[in-house]
Amino acid sequence: MKNNNIEPIRLAVFASGRGSNLESIMNNIKACRLDAKIVVVISNNSKSGALELAVNNKVAAHHISRLQFETEESYINHLLEVLKKCDTQLVILAGYMKKVPVKIIQTYKHRILNIHPALLPSFGGKGLYGKYVHEAVLEYGCKVSGATVHIVDEEYDTGPPVYQQCVPVLNDDSPETLAARILKVEHEIYPKAIQLFAEGRVTVHGRKTIIANP
Ligand code: GAR
Repeated sequence: MKNNNIEPIRLAVFASGRGSNLESIMNNIKACRLDAKIVVVISNNSKSGALELAVNNKVAAHHISRLQFETEESYINHLLEVLKKCDTQLVILAGYMKKVPVKIIQTYKHRILNIHPALLPSFGGKGLYGKYVHEAVLEYGCKVSGATVHIVDEEYDTGPPVYQQCVPVLNDDSPETLAARILKVEHEIYPKAIQLFAEGRVTVHGRKTIIANP
């Protein structure tokens, strides 16, 4: 729930694909349910729906790919420069399919969030993203799956969870039907998790995040 006494937290959103999580964050801001401002959207994919959404909503949009730079260092420095120029307070990975460079993770320690379409630590890690997650869940015969918002550390999908929600797996689910049921939950929990940061209620103790009462 939006708190009138706090400054909107400044978000940089990284996204590679269609951008439905970005859109849900935008909608929650517009509906005054989230005390946040999206200051920049960055994508490694020039054709991503996320960049289009940013442009349509008059948010700064940058296509930044490692391929545009001669060295890894100049690529990372450019990303950092863009983030700093916008006074980024929290980095939001919303379907971002590239690994975030370690220097950025260290610069924004405990201030980078990711959403993963499963209940971590199950069905996470390298190669488990998007539809591959749901295929693996169904192949295993799981009865529940879900979504996890977590703090990003140096590895894939291993940082401390902030928010998790279960979703039932139905007998006749396909990867697509399960993905759609989970995506609905993603759109609900990601803005809620971001609001916890906007309200300054999240502290990290080792692997554990503690959410303070409002
Ligand atoms: C979402 O389901 C998100 O959880 C997943 O990619 C999709 C992006 O959709 N992310 C991962 O699998 C990361 N490991 P969107 O572009 O519509 O937000």
